[in-house]
Amino acid sequence: MISRLDFLKRAGALVAAGIITPSLSDRYSLLARQTGANDRINVGLIGCRSMGWANLSDFLLIPEVRCVALCDVDQQVLEGRAAEVEKRTGKRPDLYKDYRKMLERKDLDAVIIGTPDHWHCLQMVDACEAGFDVYVEKPIANSIAECDIMAAAAKKYNRVVQVGQQQRSGNHWHEMKRYLDSGKLGRIAKVNVWANFAYASILGAVPDQAPPAHVDFDMWLGPAPDRTFNPKRFHGSWRMFWDYGGGLLTDWGVHLLDMALWGMNVKGMPKRVMASGDNHQNPENISETFDTMSVVYEFDDFVITWNNVTLETGPYNRNYGVEFVGENGTLVANRESWEVYPYRDRIEAYQSLPNYNDHRDHVANFIECLKTRNMETACTIDNGALCAKYAHMGNISARVKSDLIFDDVRKKFNNSDANKLIIPDYRKPWKLPKL
Ligand SMILES: NC(=O)c1ccc[n+]([C@@H]2O[C@H](COP(=O)([O-])OP(=O)(O)OC[C@H]3O[C@@H](n4cnc5c(N)ncnc54)[C@H](O)[C@@H]3O)[C@@H](O)[C@H]2O)c1
Repeated sequence: MISRLDFLKRAGALVAAGIITPSLSDRYSLLARQTGANDRINVGLIGCRSMGWANLSDFLLIPEVRCVALCDVDQQVLEGRAAEVEKRTGKRPDLYKDYRKMLERKDLDAVIIGTPDHWHCLQMVDACEAGFDVYVEKPIANSIAECDIMAAAAKKYNRVVQVGQQQRSGNHWHEMKRYLDSGKLGRIAKVNVWANFAYASILGAVPDQAPPAHVDFDMWLGPAPDRTFNPKRFHGSWRMFWDYGGGLLTDWGVHLLDMALWGMNVKGMPKRVMASGDNHQNPENISETFDTMSVVYEFDDFVITWNNVTLETGPYNRNYGVEFVGENGTLVANRESWEVYPYRDRIEAYQSLPNYNDHRDHVANFIECLKTRNMETACTIDNGALCAKYAHMGNISARVKSDLIFDDVRKKFNNSDANKLIIPDYRKPWKLPKL
């Protein structure tokens, strides 16, 4: 017998294929009529501590969604989140330490991936192969090669994938894009992106030590190199160490570079990338990623720059943002607003404020796409891959201290040291997925 969710998926596939073409409002009412109390969308979450939990919380606002499984390598986190799900929904999800066991379930519809970046590729590809749609956090991966593998996996297994770059569902960001597309700013020669956050300085080194008894540290490391546990390289702060993350450039960079690339209609690689980075601000900073960094991405007609420091201040009194410098005026944007500052009265000043529903709308967009088999989610895997590759290229340029050109067909830089940083060397028994 065909389940109602299967029916919706098939109906959605017909819509997606253009075989039936209900209007958007018709489609919503069709879905509303067909989705009843027994027609749940079962989700499992891998990585439950911070953003994974924030994601699940918004999934649970959608009436059809049911959380049936949680997976984490930290038993304390797992138990704590299970209790919260039970309190909120009245049902305790099944708990897993090994995501591969969770993926053996037959009743899942979607998997949320909220683990550190070095895990995303394996877990996303395995989830796609198991036949589940995926909401994967940003940056989609911790290397350029993994980005390409994940984009290929979504296509091979025909899965709906949403990347957790929720600004793509933000009303005021869409309005900004329409403004940029109107051409009012005139020729845009430069786009500046910056993110200045104190958390990029990991201070006060502590000795390596045994992992807490409630943590399966070997499974936390997964494909990353073997090493002794250190609490400064663990929950939350892992993002400042190359084996697991890429610092502010991959953490905030993918959100904000995304807006720069989208605004400038960039779909491919830059002509050249030049970067410099170090721990100039806090020499006692034990993080490997940079507390002080500048990157220039060069294109035929304009440049995009990235800058970060750890003092939480910045241009226009914003510690993070994106600035489009046009001949008629400058548009400055971040999550709190965007504004146009006219140059010599050439255009009108303008301000736009957000509705702060980005994240909820992003999750809702994923569920809608899952039901209708619409592969064009608000932030597709291709889009997530593009931004993540830009961020990784900037880091690689700074690490090898050379400007770089990346050939996205041959998958090679014009620099042998940089080429060594494209493909991660997975620790056995983990294997980089091959598609
Ligand atoms: N979209 C956003 O605005 C946003 C905001 C913050 C973080 N993020 C992203 O979310 C991801 C998680 O970041 P975080 O800050 O929540 O990290 P975190 O360290 O707080 O949480 C990660 C969780 O994953 C668990 N984990 C690690 N390895 C695991 C494995 N093999 N199986 C199951 N669980 C495992 C950890 O125990 C921990 O509970 C990152 O990719 C980050 O970039 C996105």
